[in-house]
Amino acid sequence: MSFAATILTLYPEMFPGPLGVSLAGRALAEGRWSCEPIQIRDFATDRHRSVDDTPAGGGAGMVMRADVLGRAVDHAIAKQPEAPLLAMTPRGAPLTQARVRALAAGPGVTILCGRFEGMDERLFEARPIEPVSIGDYVLSGGEMGALTLLDACIRLLPGVMGAASSGDDESFETGLLEYPHYTRPVEWEGRTIPEVLRSGDHAAIEAWRKARAETDTRLRRPDLWERHEGARVQSPSGARQKKER
Ligand code: ADE
Repeated sequence: MSFAATILTLYPEMFPGPLGVSLAGRALAEGRWSCEPIQIRDFATDRHRSVDDTPAGGGAGMVMRADVLGRAVDHAIAKQPEAPLLAMTPRGAPLTQARVRALAAGPGVTILCGRFEGMDERLFEARPIEPVSIGDYVLSGGEMGALTLLDACIRLLPGVMGAASSGDDESFETGLLEYPHYTRPVEWEGRTIPEVLRSGDHAAIEAWRKARAETDTRLRRPDLWERHEGARVQSPSGARQKKER
């Protein structure tokens, strides 16, 4: 069974785009996933095929119309009713590796890509749409977010990455950033690979990697570290215990 990606967009020519090369491109050619961009404008009904209008209450920019998006979404739902329906928007919940894993394990995904100032909010009330953000910054549209989400899913599909994708050590899988990597040459610009990694002592290597994953997470991602520490001090009964300092 192949992972079916349906993308509702004003720019269908953006797909598969970068996902047509390298790992994802090969997987696409092998039929491990499929990519069907759908032009939202095809669901406009007026002479000008308009998909947007001015914002109620005033303000800058334009808003995507609920009636047009509703028809586009209904078309996608009818085509693949079992696929989760996502909308890319900076107002969405942040995408996580856990959500990516869950999506990759399913039949595929339908992704609605916003443009302009946003989408009419009534769409989210009237249809089972999960708003998703890829980070706390604003893109010019949801397409790059959709490509990012799909890339994260595709690399996890069976047969796409081989052994490397089992990735229990990967960043975020453990709630921590991954430890740093090194390869030959052993010396570069006067810098050497940490001795322990050349020792062949697997227990020592594992301990070093765990320590570096923890230090780097604490320094670079205090938010992740807090959550990790919070989970660690949680008692089996669920009550929070005071952290030892
Ligand atoms: N569209 C615009 N900005 C976005 C973001 N940060 N995530 C997902 N979709 C977006």
